[in-house]
Amino acid sequence: MKNIVWHNGRISKLDREKRLKQKGVILWFTGLSGSGKSTIAYELENYLHNNNYHSYVLDGDNIRHGLNNDLGFSIEDRKENLRRISEVGKLFVDSGTITITSFISPFREDRQKIREKFQNGEFIEVYIKCSIEECKRRDVKGLYKKVENNEIKNFTGITSPYEEPESPEIILDTENDSLENCLNKLISYIKENKIIG
Ligand code: ADX
Repeated sequence: MKNIVWHNGRISKLDREKRLKQKGVILWFTGLSGSGKSTIAYELENYLHNNNYHSYVLDGDNIRHGLNNDLGFSIEDRKENLRRISEVGKLFVDSGTITITSFISPFREDRQKIREKFQNGEFIEVYIKCSIEECKRRDVKGLYKKVENNEIKNFTGITSPYEEPESPEIILDTENDSLENCLNKLISYIKENKIIG
């Protein structure tokens, strides 16, 4: 960047992690609309908070109300949506926060690019697996009905693609596993990898 320098403060990520007694990481949830990303994300945040850890959820619908309210659902806009989120995510990780992101993030290439922005072990891809049939059945937000009535264009899984992760760190199958089991699987991963003590 021309005429712009990076300022380092006196406190490092490691200093912040020591104070918080945790590692700053990003748990990148990906999956179809209605697959259960936000539900699990907020459950995990609740668990971490109640156990004295510091975490924060960046959620697709919420971010699109503010920071990204100028973006739609074309391939280009989704790319930009995720680029901005990943930059925000980097700052959160540097702050030592256990950052949980809940975005469809349908394209493999975009997710790979995001992974490359982080240090080894910082980026944890979590595939929230659920078939499109089950998501349609749930239709929590009534969006699948709207797609059927041609009221929404480029809808992921129907008129816009969703590329499944090939080797995510964690797969949570919300169609066949209970919410409790999914949460426990996440917590085990976090403990085994010494993100929390
Ligand atoms: S992403 O593809 O750019 O990662 P993001 O997670 O931010 O998507 O937003 C998805 C949410 O926006 C969905 O959960 C749904 O509520 C809403 N939405 C509205 N229109 C669409 C669409 N065409 N495709 C997918 N989700 C949509």
